[in-house]
Order: sequence, then structure tokens, then C-alpha cells
Amino acid sequence: MAFVRVCALSELETDTPKRVEVDGTPVSVVRTEGEVFAINDICSHANVSLSEGEVEDCAIECWLHGSSFDLRTGKPSGLPATRPVPVYPVKIEGDDVLVSVTQES
Ligand code: FES
Repeated sequence: MAFVRVCALSELETDTPKRVEVDGTPVSVVRTEGEVFAINDICSHANVSLSEGEVEDCAIECWLHGSSFDLRTGKPSGLPATRPVPVYPVKIEGDDVLVSVTQES
């Protein structure tokens, strides 16, 4: 499983998603509740960037129609989205945030 450095931990503001690309895959990196999560940046309902949404209760809300996706599992908590969004393993090494998109966590 190849981990790629995506950003510095110190530049990640709490509850402010950061959009990055990992091996061509758009990923939203989110620091919240003392942890860092990585979730595919495209909503499973339509082609919308999740990193433009709000973070609350360890979930990211799609700004377009309001489905929230659990940052730990990628599962939507409510309609209109019904399919989960892939989530990816994250490693913190010093001030480096690393994400692997070759395997979903
Ligand atoms: S595009 Fe995300 S919930 Fe509709």
C-alpha cells in the first residue's frame, strides 16, 4: 500500500477540508476531533466536491443536497445519497500527512 505525502499537518485547520490529489484521485483531507481522515472528494450522489462542504460530528456534509458522509466509514447518514464514498488510510509522520488510495480502509 503506497502512502503519499499530501500536506503538512500544521497547515490543516480543524474542520476545514483540504482538497488534494493522490495518484490522480481527488481526496478531501479533514482534521477533526483530534484525528485526520481522508475521503474521496466526489459525492456519491452527483459530481460535487465534498471538500467545499461543512464538517460536523466526524462527518462531511455535501453542500449541494445535504447528505452527510461519515469520515470513518464513508457511509451516508441520509438521503439523497445512498452509496458510500471511499475512505482511505491516513498516516501521520512528524508533520507529514500521508494517504494511500490504493486500498480503501
Ligand atoms: S450531490 Fe451530494 S447529496 Fe446531492
